[in-house]
Amino acid sequence: MCKPFHVDVFKENLMSEWMGKDFIYKKEVDSTNLILKSVPSEKLNQGTTLLADYQAKGRGQYEKKWNSDPFRDLTFTIALKPKSGTRYTLLTLGCAKALADVLQKYTDETIRIKWPNDLMVRDKKIGGILTESIFMGNKPDRVLIGIGLNIYQKKFHASLSNIAVSLQQIAHKPITREILLCECLKEIEEVYHQWVMSDPNLLVDIHKILIGYGEWVKLSIYNNIQPDKYKFIGISNKGELLMLNEQLDVNKFSYEQVRIIPCKQPVPEA
Ligand code: BTN
Repeated sequence: MCKPFHVDVFKENLMSEWMGKDFIYKKEVDSTNLILKSVPSEKLNQGTTLLADYQAKGRGQYEKKWNSDPFRDLTFTIALKPKSGTRYTLLTLGCAKALADVLQKYTDETIRIKWPNDLMVRDKKIGGILTESIFMGNKPDRVLIGIGLNIYQKKFHASLSNIAVSLQQIAHKPITREILLCECLKEIEEVYHQWVMSDPNLLVDIHKILIGYGEWVKLSIYNNIQPDKYKFIGISNKGELLMLNEQLDVNKFSYEQVRIIPCKQPVPEA
């Protein structure tokens, strides 16, 4: 499955109202997020989507690289122009929920969200989101939702081989990248409306597939595993982690350097 992305097939099948209607395809870029960062605001429409078949310098969270095979995966960025300059962690989680719902239609394995931005299956990562925001002074200009999904990739870098999986490895039906992207954009459009309206159902749906939700977990903060256990009681309407400590106080965590470690698994060395 090493074919270039077929833009006409994508456009014929796109059922969203506005998400992805403005579509840019590039064979190769450094990073789709970086390209959409540099487009002048007045030329960028709500929902503009840029997909590249290869990223030479794909970027992940925590300054990590995001490697994907040319023509085998889905690497794209959506530009959104919300009026609100807050709650972006919840937007990321909402997008993760939208993507999980789409991927779930292709597999009997359960797709889950690892706070704040990972899509997981069988303890392996199948996709990730890099959300970046740009402000003009104190006004929000755009939010870039960069999405990487492992679709046909068979071989992963040695450091990832035990912790990454692609959709084809778990799918029970054929996958067409163009159709899959249409499905993702349609779902993300719906979630975006929920996010704008602060629809409480969005949180309910995210909780259902959130790893560790309702369980006693450990937290790793800046790669240091904390001695205490917490009960993961959910996420706030801003996307913060809500954790009940052993003294029964609710603690909130919002920074990306926090990782949840479900206690059922052996706690890894820091
Ligand atoms: C992560 O899990 O660390 C986030 C990965 C995000 C990767 C995507 S691929 C498209 C977009 N462009 C980038 O350079 N990164 C994001």
